[in-house]
Amino acid sequence: MTRILVTGGAGFIGSHFVRNLHDVYVTVLDKLTYAGNRANLEGVRHEFVHGDICDADLLRSVVPGHDLVVNFAAESHVDRSIEGAAEFMRTNALGTQTLLQACLEAGVPKVVQVSTDEVYGSIDIGSWDEDAPLRPRSPYAASKAAGDLIARAYAITYGLNVSITRCGNNYGPRQYPEKLIPLFLTNLMRGRKVPLYGDGGNVRDWIHVADHCAGIRLVAEKGEPGEVYNIAGTAELTNKELTGRLLQACGRGWDAVEYVEDRKGHDRRYSMDDAKLRALGYRPEIPFEQGLKDTVRWYAEHRDWWTS
Ligand SMILES: NC(=O)c1ccc[n+]([C@@H]2O[C@H](COP(=O)([O-])OP(=O)(O)OC[C@H]3O[C@@H](n4cnc5c(N)ncnc54)[C@H](O)[C@@H]3O)[C@@H](O)[C@H]2O)c1
Repeated sequence: MTRILVTGGAGFIGSHFVRNLHDVYVTVLDKLTYAGNRANLEGVRHEFVHGDICDADLLRSVVPGHDLVVNFAAESHVDRSIEGAAEFMRTNALGTQTLLQACLEAGVPKVVQVSTDEVYGSIDIGSWDEDAPLRPRSPYAASKAAGDLIARAYAITYGLNVSITRCGNNYGPRQYPEKLIPLFLTNLMRGRKVPLYGDGGNVRDWIHVADHCAGIRLVAEKGEPGEVYNIAGTAELTNKELTGRLLQACGRGWDAVEYVEDRKGHDRRYSMDDAKLRALGYRPEIPFEQGLKDTVRWYAEHRDWWTS
């Protein structure tokens, strides 16, 4: 049976990925930081290893024997990276290198490094393709760019079969309520206000977590070593437009919005061209309206998940 190791598999996207693996043997390795939650994997058949991707000794015992390693493990919140960048560099850069080294030594046939559009920086008009320069603007984005570059180097220098995916802003169930959509939804459902950065004009391209995971599965199957694949969103919205939809979904008005000082170095807009992945057969399947409706319902029906 195919054996897959998912690092960071107890987080938002990693757990969704694991939930949709069938007829394979799954190992999840996760440090269980504030963002990791074993409840995200409840009812899902897997072997769980509590550990850190920076721990080379542990990886030497866990990694061998797997046919595919997908690395979701990361510090993932930009605001936290602005407060303290060190843990981001440790996990996202050094942790990625430590994991790739373990994969190389174990002869793992395929590795996918999960990354973000934020490595490209900010773009006012047009869209980035995979050859766009990396111009990260936050410590989070810089640490993810470091992970991407070390993955590329392992492919070229050592011949490791690692591909890199870069995705836009994800939404869906089980996202820790520090990111915009779950933070706003849970605040609104508690009767609290929501904090909107700056003028609310920052643009994000939203993608349902299920479409992101489908893109990753395709890259695991067909991605070339050392190559990058963008996974673009399906709905480009300003934060203000998105806030309007969340208010409407929760039956609240604009008096629930508190404009707060803008994030330092706040990227204005992200936009990617995913023609390269589409050429492999990728098509996103979840329309934003439907995905958002389902997500609102999930948070309304799972108060115990976000209040405990
Ligand atoms: N959320 C998004 O919109 C988005 C978009 C594009 C790319 N990504 C990338 O996707 C990946 C997953 O993102 P997410 O939103 O699910 O993040 P998340 O914060 O919900 O989950 C991260 C997981 O990694 C684990 N982890 C953290 N440090 C670790 C370490 N040193 N060793 C082992 N496990 C560790 C955490 O416990 C948690 O379970 C990240 O690499 C992120 O950069 C996220």
